[in-house]
Amino acid sequence: MTDLSKITCIEDLRVLARRRVPRMFYDYVDSGSWTEGTYRANQADFQKLLLRQRVAINMEDRCTAAAMVGEPVTMPVALAPTGLTGMQHADGEILAARAARKFGIPFTLSTMSICSIEDVARHAGPGFWFQLYVMRDRDFIERLIDRAKTAGCGALVITLDLQILGQRHKDIKNGLTTPPKPTLATLIDLAAKPRWIAGMLRTPRRRFGNIHGHVKGVTDAGNLAAWTADQFDPRLNWGDVEWIKKRWGGKVILKGIMEPEDARLAAASGADALIVSNHGGRQLDGAPSAIAALPAIVDAVGRQIEVHMDSGIRSGQDVLKAWALGARGTYIGRAFLYGLGAAGEAGVTKALEIIHRELDMTMAFCGHTRIDAVDQRILRAQAMPS
Ligand code: GLV
Repeated sequence: MTDLSKITCIEDLRVLARRRVPRMFYDYVDSGSWTEGTYRANQADFQKLLLRQRVAINMEDRCTAAAMVGEPVTMPVALAPTGLTGMQHADGEILAARAARKFGIPFTLSTMSICSIEDVARHAGPGFWFQLYVMRDRDFIERLIDRAKTAGCGALVITLDLQILGQRHKDIKNGLTTPPKPTLATLIDLAAKPRWIAGMLRTPRRRFGNIHGHVKGVTDAGNLAAWTADQFDPRLNWGDVEWIKKRWGGKVILKGIMEPEDARLAAASGADALIVSNHGGRQLDGAPSAIAALPAIVDAVGRQIEVHMDSGIRSGQDVLKAWALGARGTYIGRAFLYGLGAAGEAGVTKALEIIHRELDMTMAFCGHTRIDAVDQRILRAQAMPS
């Protein structure tokens, strides 16, 4: 067991994950597309938002509980859908789903996960959310939707910003594949990651569990970039959202909205929520940060549809700032993946504890005991990049 008592922030988990996770999978997480300008702006723009400290206000009995698409949450944070989670740590999706369940927040399983929908439901319990990528093979998509329904998933998150995969230089240079191909560079790197190897040798879960054996004629989805280029449907449009929503029949969340025009279309689609997201700076480099894009979208549709956000959240302060600007839910991707890579389920729990504590204390310093009373008045008026 790793001693996590000296881990005090998400950055500590990142440093530990970097030591423990094979380079190609660590780099897959810790990178953005092209110049990584948007990736950096996602975090930097949070830092530009300054908080207003209030004093001599009773801080006792605080509550960060909220609801996301009608589901009660202990704080307005969900685990984001992230590809290859089970390559950060053996059985990663199951471990993260368990940590989220125990903490009282949603876990979102990616289509491109290592553990399958059924496997996560069996080993971590039903109710987690499922993220859907739309592929050319409609039969497969219909079956995937039905599988998520049968497994008891609580919401379907449809990703709209990845019809084609953004270019992340490191993935090409590292020759990212799942499982890793035994090249000399990979073997040298793996030799320094004995914990990761021991975990992988103990588990049968080393391929894309939702895909392998489920897509006709596809035997190797191991190279994510090549597979995406072949299989993801570049024609995805609002008509598809309509039939997917109908087939699913449950709560729908649309992910990847950055402009008010698209937010209006998302609201008109009848979805339950949208996520303001630039995919963690992994798709369109040169787009603004998600926190900079949030206010105009809340302004345009915040009364018609629940607005969530992701991209750049590394602390509970970031969660509170997003909430103050109108996000009724947030998602963490890298922040929990670092915890997972560092120490498995305990590492994810640690990440959630860190974020919760930062959120709770910041709320108190800003003069509030209940998150539902927090609004943009906790932020100092200043220019935000837009
Ligand atoms: C997939 O979701 C990716 O960002 O790689």
